[in-house]
Amino acid sequence: MPAPEIIRTPKEVSARADAWRRAGRRIAFVPTMGYLHRGHVTLLEEGRARGDVLVLSIFVNPTQFGPREDLARYPRDLEGDLAKAAGAGTDVVYLPEAGDMYPPGYQTYVEVKDLARGLCGERRPGHFRGVATIVAKLFCAVKPHVAIFGEKDYQQLQVVRRLARDLDLDVEIVGIPTVREPDGLAMSSRNAYLSSDDRARATCLHRALVKAREAAAGGERDVAALCALAVGIISAGQPTRIDYVEARDAETLQPVARLERPVVMALAVFFGATRLIDNVVIQAGG
Ligand code: PAF
Repeated sequence: MPAPEIIRTPKEVSARADAWRRAGRRIAFVPTMGYLHRGHVTLLEEGRARGDVLVLSIFVNPTQFGPREDLARYPRDLEGDLAKAAGAGTDVVYLPEAGDMYPPGYQTYVEVKDLARGLCGERRPGHFRGVATIVAKLFCAVKPHVAIFGEKDYQQLQVVRRLARDLDLDVEIVGIPTVREPDGLAMSSRNAYLSSDDRARATCLHRALVKAREAAAGGERDVAALCALAVGIISAGQPTRIDYVEARDAETLQPVARLERPVVMALAVFFGATRLIDNVVIQAGG
């Protein structure tokens, strides 16, 4: 596969996007923060199948990190990312600089209200404001017809869908199921931080979600009982700290007491200093 072209400025990528659109080419877009793994490659493959031009962005977005989060040590591997991007048939890698995305005097932010409130939004204040802002900015520059996101970041996906709808953005948002390691651990760039002990312990997360789904299939309708079951399994895995385990309406992300419509059981759990997230959608019928 040929090496993708690298574009570094919003102005340049925007001009290219205009030209692709004039030529009737469908633009597929995969926004990422880099350190690509097999999950990202799956998103790129989906984009390749859905577009004539495949654009990948790599930008570690400072506005979605809290002051005590891992922005400075977020893993980076541009060379490896470019090789993976080439392998997946990426045409263009958009690599903006923080100074171009947020130049001095920058003061415009996008806020999605209710969907961004609970779950990770509650524990990471400002996170989804940063995500919504950068995704809106990337969409303005890349002008995609279709954009691909992973379902591992379930709340992010709902926020982006809402953002696209509310701002009348003419872009199709596609969610792709979480890609997992053979033992069930969801692929994440942050897995690279885990010690080997924590990596082994972290398999309890997927086990807990699967057990909760099985209990629902077996007839359990009480959402608190399903969460308690998951918490028990995770606690036995000896995490450093459970940030949250919650089940909410899969569409609105509002709290629910009974499993009557699909719910998303979502969790965030620390192993050492590493915060892992995962989720599963549980249908009322199992
Ligand atoms: O999911 C991510 O990698 C990021 O949150 C995104 C969507 C690229 C925005 O920075």
